Amino acid sequence: MTRKIIIDTDPGQDDAIAILLALASPNDIDVLGITAVAGNVPLPLTQRNVRVVCELAGRPDMTVCAGCDAPMQRPLVTAEHVHGTTGLDGPEMIAPTMPLSDQHAVDFIIETAREQDGITLCPLGPLTNIATALERAPEIADKIDEIILMGGAYFEVGNITPAAEFNIYVDPEAADIVFRSGIKLTVLPLDTTHKVLATAERTAAIRAIGGPVAETVAAWTEFFERFDTEKYGSAGAPLHDPCVIAYLLKPDLFSGRQCNVQVEVSSPLTLGMTVADWWHITDHPRNAFFCGDVDANGFFDLLTERLARL
Ligand code: RIB
Ligand code: CA
Repeated sequence: MTRKIIIDTDPGQDDAIAILLALASPNDIDVLGITAVAGNVPLPLTQRNVRVVCELAGRPDMTVCAGCDAPMQRPLVTAEHVHGTTGLDGPEMIAPTMPLSDQHAVDFIIETAREQDGITLCPLGPLTNIATALERAPEIADKIDEIILMGGAYFEVGNITPAAEFNIYVDPEAADIVFRSGIKLTVLPLDTTHKVLATAERTAAIRAIGGPVAETVAAWTEFFERFDTEKYGSAGAPLHDPCVIAYLLKPDLFSGRQCNVQVEVSSPLTLGMTVADWWHITDHPRNAFFCGDVDANGFFDLLTERLARL
């Protein structure tokens, strides 16, 4: 069954690879549109980067909407230290010529949810657009089949503070709205994404596909791996956001647990922390399927096979 999805994103090299994976899988995924949010870099860059990736994938027809340029209640925190000043540093990228929709991303999400039964939202950045849509049109919660997001952490804890993962930390109030929404929720946290490392061997296998897409993906991973290799001693770049699309394509590559997950929205020390009741110590509602593990080789086999189709 082809899944109808909206990708909400803040490219970011890993977001870009996730978008390519989705666009390389038209028999499995119908991308209804891609909405940009401020996150890794400010909104003018994330909306530009979405269009750069769509053109790289040969999809200048894709609906691309710009969304919220700041979190719901806080100033924006960005991650140029990871992704570079453009958000897609590494290879030289040509400026996009495809149009940006004049519809705001939040309106696009609301309108699409109302018109199409059973869409899946795939947020790859801060949850500002998603939460704003749910606040503005609460009835769409019943029209959304599932939210599959990259964010949070359990054992791996934080990458932007000692306690919090970036996507949740940037807009914790938005994350709290999403996690309390009652919509079927699947979470790909750092505990999973830190296990899909683009090692030199895996990057070489992608580069060996040949062509501009493969070369660009290899150059992106070689650029953004430096943050994680320096910080964690990782053997390569963790492909955080592509895990969301890989989960859509092959959920059996992942394992996890249905449990209660809540977001810290007040403590200055642990703001943005996702608190997963992994051992069901409380009787709080088990609102999220929280992934903990992944078949990394299976993930890279899938990614490499699909990228070769573009
Ligand atoms: O913490 C990793 C997440 O933050 C990824 O989505 C990455 O693109 C950044 O947005
Ligand atoms: Ca992202």
